[in-house]
Amino acid sequence: MTAQLIDGKARAAALRAEIAEKTRGAARAPGLAVVLIGDDPASAVYVRSKERATEQAGMRSFAHRLPTATTQADLLALIAALNINDAVDGILVQLPLPAHIDESAVLRAVDPSKDVDGFHPISAGLLATGQAGFVPCTPLGCLMLLKETRGDLSGLDALVIGRSNIVGKPMAQLLLREHCTVTIAHSRTPDLPDRARRADIIVAAVGRSNFVRGNWVKPGATIIDVGINRVIGADGASKLVGDVAFDEALPHAVAITPVPGGVGPMTIAVLLHNTLLAYQRRNGS
Ligand code: GUN
Repeated sequence: MTAQLIDGKARAAALRAEIAEKTRGAARAPGLAVVLIGDDPASAVYVRSKERATEQAGMRSFAHRLPTATTQADLLALIAALNINDAVDGILVQLPLPAHIDESAVLRAVDPSKDVDGFHPISAGLLATGQAGFVPCTPLGCLMLLKETRGDLSGLDALVIGRSNIVGKPMAQLLLREHCTVTIAHSRTPDLPDRARRADIIVAAVGRSNFVRGNWVKPGATIIDVGINRVIGADGASKLVGDVAFDEALPHAVAITPVPGGVGPMTIAVLLHNTLLAYQRRNGS
């Protein structure tokens, strides 16, 4: 058996096309504000991609690039202004923030009705209690890929490796909502390979290449690889790989996301999905 490759690039393109179609029918262009503090090169690339995708979907992009020395008070004042700006439906503050800024205070300052990242504690609470809110983009993108590949997830054994607020915890909540039996594993979990061997679904969000080995994978399991790690290949060239030893896992899994081209493209598509949802909810449509 060789696993089916889950084509996140194609699924994301289809979702973006659907969103652009719905945006064309909207009374005004939905607006997304993206705030970037400092000059982290990876964050700058992400923010540029988000701006481009927003405009391609027919939405308005409001980008705010502020220097590393920006004070927390200035950032909170900007968020307060975006909260009351009616042209802005969604607000995203790119993480990580410089060390002198309290991340949780910033995330709490975003109006929950504009929290398209799903990082406000109210959004996390709504997800945990099964109520309508905003779901963080990466785990929601993973769930869309899983449901498209496996259909009904009810009763499946799911292992989420990683417990971050951005991916691991919301991913586990989403899988629970789909009636999976969910284990959240982390750096202190004993017997990880044995737990993985029982899982029908493995979501790897660890940030370490080759972390999940082929002999951890139950025959017929579906693997969602959230990792994006830059490594030097055998040919000396730099390349991106996930958290799963891909070639080892292929003969065991029934389906697997490649890196790149799996989960990555879904994150931005879901951000646009959440922005359209924020627009619709704020306009009662
Ligand atoms: N940094 C890495 N991933 C994300 C994300 O999904 N949203 C934000 N705001 N920052 C990030």
